[in-house]
Amino acid sequence: MSYSDVVDAIGHTPLVRLRIGNSSAAVYAKLEMQNLFGMKDRVARQIILDARRSGLLTEGAPIIESSSGTMALGVALVGGALGHEVHIVTDPRIDPITLAKLRTLGATVHIVEQRGEGGWQGARLDLLETLMKRLPGAFWPQQYSNPQNPAAYRTLADELLNDLGPIDVLVGSVGSGGSLCGTARALRPVMPGLRVVAVDCVGSMLFGQPDVPARLQSGLGNSLMPANLDHALIDEIHWLNDREAFDAARCLAREQQLFGGNTSGSVYRVLRHLAETAASGTRIVGILPDRGDRYHDTVYGEDCWQAQGLDQLPLRDRPQRVEPGAVVDAWSHCALPAVAASGVAAEREVR
Ligand SMILES: Cc1ncc(COP(=O)(O)O)c(C=O)c1O
Repeated sequence: MSYSDVVDAIGHTPLVRLRIGNSSAAVYAKLEMQNLFGMKDRVARQIILDARRSGLLTEGAPIIESSSGTMALGVALVGGALGHEVHIVTDPRIDPITLAKLRTLGATVHIVEQRGEGGWQGARLDLLETLMKRLPGAFWPQQYSNPQNPAAYRTLADELLNDLGPIDVLVGSVGSGGSLCGTARALRPVMPGLRVVAVDCVGSMLFGQPDVPARLQSGLGNSLMPANLDHALIDEIHWLNDREAFDAARCLAREQQLFGGNTSGSVYRVLRHLAETAASGTRIVGILPDRGDRYHDTVYGEDCWQAQGLDQLPLRDRPQRVEPGAVVDAWSHCALPAVAASGVAAEREVR
């Protein structure tokens, strides 16, 4: 395939059928990890192009985003390609591979030194606010509340429709809610019976669990409620603990030869479970967001496993069904909409 530029090359990712034991369900992985950087390349393109169209982002104006992962890389990619100065606000937990990529792409990376009142996230937002004042005309994509984040997944939904047609079950991890809710929202009008399964982590408040900021999984989970998470679109939620998520990523590599991050692992674990329990021919699709390289010393690092005592955490081979309100410490699942979600706004307005 040939594309006019790198921005145009975003998306068009492979859909790969997975072989799962004796299951006669048809299980597919949407390899968002095959984007130039990762799944959020789509979000960065959608938000930045929309802001340029509406005049919120003018020619050559700076873009500032708070992120330490896939969104930062997407903004550095698209912003850089379209001639914008890119500033990324992050914290010391950023991994060295992402940091090297961002700097090499030409982004200026601002690393906050201390936690603020709202933890690392609060400190990052404080610095972002300062930079917005210092850089006149700067644009902040605000992936947690910008409706262009979920809207970016219209293209992913169209690719699924073209490649596969009707789907019975869609599985995705939830951080901002953009990918799962955006894809589900685009598919539901043509597939009203679509079952949407969300994957979160133990210690994330997105689906009513108590927040545990020390959780190790990155990408999914949140300590704040993002406006882009629409619980009404979701039928079922699974939570995995850090050991289960990391172990699942290793299984994904061993069993399917796909080297992904922990969110891809968690989605795979749920896909496998659904495949084993689904009726013959059920079509199940899981979204795998990014590659595993930057997790080489966490998900895939023995030292990290030892230092964090991950082997001490429970490891379930199937989920335990729980009632809404139950606090979980290992793989569990619950039907929505019974899970009441409460929370606070994800991002403060920058004035
Ligand atoms: C690697 C990875 N996986 C999954 C997610 C969750 O995606 P979303 O924000 O669309 O809910 C993110 C979000 O940043 C991510 O970086």
